[in-house]
Amino acid sequence: MRITIAGAGYVGLITGLCLCERGQDVTMIDIDEKKIQTLQNGIPPFFEKGLPELLESCQNSGRIKFTTDPVEAYSEPDTVMIAVPTPERRDGSANLQYVFDVCSLIAEHCRKACVVILKSTSPVGTSDKIETFLNEKSNNDLFEVASNPEFLAQGTAINDTFNASRIVIGAKNLDIAEKVQDIYTGFSSTFVLTDRKSAEMIKYASNDFLALKISYINEIANLCEKVGANVEIVAAGMGLDPRIGNLYLKPGTGYGGSCFPKDTKALHWLAKYHGYELKTIKATIEVNENQKIILFQKARQYYQNFRGLTVAVLGLAFKPGTDDIREAPSLDIVRLFEEEGAKVKAWDFAASDNFRKYCSQDAVFCPTAEETLIGADMCVILTEWDEVKSLTPKQYKERMKTPIVLDGRNCYPPEVFENTSVLYDSIGRITVNPRIRLIPELV
Ligand code: UGA
Repeated sequence: MRITIAGAGYVGLITGLCLCERGQDVTMIDIDEKKIQTLQNGIPPFFEKGLPELLESCQNSGRIKFTTDPVEAYSEPDTVMIAVPTPERRDGSANLQYVFDVCSLIAEHCRKACVVILKSTSPVGTSDKIETFLNEKSNNDLFEVASNPEFLAQGTAINDTFNASRIVIGAKNLDIAEKVQDIYTGFSSTFVLTDRKSAEMIKYASNDFLALKISYINEIANLCEKVGANVEIVAAGMGLDPRIGNLYLKPGTGYGGSCFPKDTKALHWLAKYHGYELKTIKATIEVNENQKIILFQKARQYYQNFRGLTVAVLGLAFKPGTDDIREAPSLDIVRLFEEEGAKVKAWDFAASDNFRKYCSQDAVFCPTAEETLIGADMCVILTEWDEVKSLTPKQYKERMKTPIVLDGRNCYPPEVFENTSVLYDSIGRITVNPRIRLIPELV
């Protein structure tokens, strides 16, 4: 089958390469010429485990093309998959401009019957709208639109695509749904065939539920600190109940990335538009906003002001396994420390280059996690990279000027820091060696 995929971002590129690997002929089109050139040269445009090997294998197969030319991409495909971004507008609603830009090009260039698959996360009702748009604009009834949301997560994107927990296909009738199902021949997943609006809603409801779980456990963590309970044990105890499940109950400095923050706001906006308030999602968003700066609030317990101090920041990406810093808590925390006069030394396994433009010129990026600690008055851990988890209390003690470690990802069991001089505070657990407000005299 000839499949054109519009948008060579995380979703489009990974999906396109996985489809190609399973035998489909795939043409990837993107408006970003530099990205297409990079891909033509066999270089992945972003960091993702297994991507270089998958790209190479697809190029060797001769079944993948990368182009910026709409004539080449849209003239002859059996199917077009739309996987362009649907960024958040100022009011929280989803901006569908890129989706409609692609549809205009499809309507202009495609002259044969074609199933258009909407993969971009889009508000309920978008598939209906773009089908009308395509058929009106092209002045014929060549186009059928199906919704096929994706559930891959960055860092595990390839495995998530080949072994998706489910492949959801929303279509007007079974015939169209089965045509879409056919492109996934060779994928081991359960198919959910449904109407288009339900498919679109499954995507938002899934992401927002996961975000809600995270905000819930973060609130429980904050309460655990106040009452002296250990949130990790609480989460483990909860997770044994199969009705709750043990995933997405890891407390931390809040969820980030290009999906949960945007999709919670978009669903909240959509509900409001329909005269309904999604109170659970509103609370999810509010809790997360506060959680993102919780380490800064904790830092204040140890220093009244940060002028002249050096803060070591371990981890900038919104989670390990990616170089993506979109909506990462590091953006807020580094800004707050710098605004208060601290000097930031930072390390990330993959995201340092992406981060540089979001901090002052004085910030220093270190080649290793250990080097970042040298001379620091405080360390904040924002991403649980293995390199961070393998640091020992001795390394913190010997490298830092004042060994205060605020761990936003619970990278170590707190006991590790007992009988050391390191002050270790994390999320939802006891503080080891607390020395509240010990530092003002040093500042
Ligand atoms: C998320 C979903 O997991 C995917 O299923 C979905 O397809 C994707 O959004 C999307 O809509 O495109 P992703 O944004 O890559 O994937 O990241 P996750 O692994 O879900 O993590 C999101 C954030 O939640 C991260 O900041 C992570 O650190 C945080 N998190 C996750 C927690 O704080 N606690 C947890 O228990 C789990």
